[in-house]
Amino acid sequence: MKKRILAMTAVAAISALALGAMANAEGETIGVAMPTQDLQRWNQDGENMKAQLEEKGYVVDLQYAGNDVATQVSQIENMIANGDQLLVIASIEGDSLGTVLAQAKEAEIPVIAYDRLIMNTDAVSYYATFDNYLVGKTQGQFIVDALDLENADGPFNLEMVTGDPGDNNVNFFFGGAMEVLQPYIDAGKLVVPSGQMTKDEVATAGWATDAAQSRFENILSSNYADGTTLHAVLASNDSTALGVANALAANYTGEYPIITGQDCDIANMPNIIDGKQAMSVFKDTRTLATKVVEMVDAIMTGAEAPVNDTETYDNGTGVIPSYLCEPVAVTIDNYKEMLVDSGYYTEDQLQ
Ligand code: BGC
Repeated sequence: MKKRILAMTAVAAISALALGAMANAEGETIGVAMPTQDLQRWNQDGENMKAQLEEKGYVVDLQYAGNDVATQVSQIENMIANGDQLLVIASIEGDSLGTVLAQAKEAEIPVIAYDRLIMNTDAVSYYATFDNYLVGKTQGQFIVDALDLENADGPFNLEMVTGDPGDNNVNFFFGGAMEVLQPYIDAGKLVVPSGQMTKDEVATAGWATDAAQSRFENILSSNYADGTTLHAVLASNDSTALGVANALAANYTGEYPIITGQDCDIANMPNIIDGKQAMSVFKDTRTLATKVVEMVDAIMTGAEAPVNDTETYDNGTGVIPSYLCEPVAVTIDNYKEMLVDSGYYTEDQLQ
């Protein structure tokens, strides 16, 4: 494997003949560590990866960790012990894999961070994800446009619900959204009646719907029970957006707010179609899987892995070469085209 990594970095110098000799990694085992089966997207990610890797002749060791860090660590230890040749990891907590990945490095097993960057370890070779900062900016811009903040005086009331503080993506989702929203907060056009605006205050442990719901029930009873209008909710993804919508359904009768989301989960589509969630950010997991499989195959065969960003994602040990896929805003107006016509969902799944 060491030879392969060296070959990969010096690819330009390798003759076509030498590449040809290495270009057959069929039958090798690829470990794929996913965080949880609780959320639709990770099931899709895992299935897509498995199918596409198997199509190329790899054996796939796919594991889900029930959102439990210790379980994920021991699954990765087993992958290393079993001789998996490369690891693709969607981490639960970006900072908790340093020790086990030191073992991977020692065993010369390359690691690709999948969707979530793995922090503070030099064992990560590549990162493949959607442009997480752009996800946050897209959500923030949607709120700006929907409330016409450029022209309207406001003030409009906003609340924010993000995800698990251990997930490095949260920094990008929240950071991107705040880059767009903060100037309007500073100008007094947007107001946050709960006062909850720091990363920790707006976090949702485990991205759990019920945790988002109970926090939001408290926000509603403390700040909106007197008839105050809630105009917008920045929800970082669909599982948290669902918690917000559930809390609103039982505890709020005013003008319905704009709610953002991410993933286009099937569970959220009825709300999008009924106007109870204004948008979701679509991240086509098929595209991400295809890119990661290209990366895997390149590493395994000594070719050059696809990357399109070598500046943004520093994991504490240096910038990790990344491939960023493009997220797209989905609303009631384009969901059919984006989700059904593209074959991502069938009409039946959305009923
Ligand atoms: C992913 C989101 C997902 C969230 C919760 C994030 O890291 O990028 O797509 O909704 O985790 O699983």
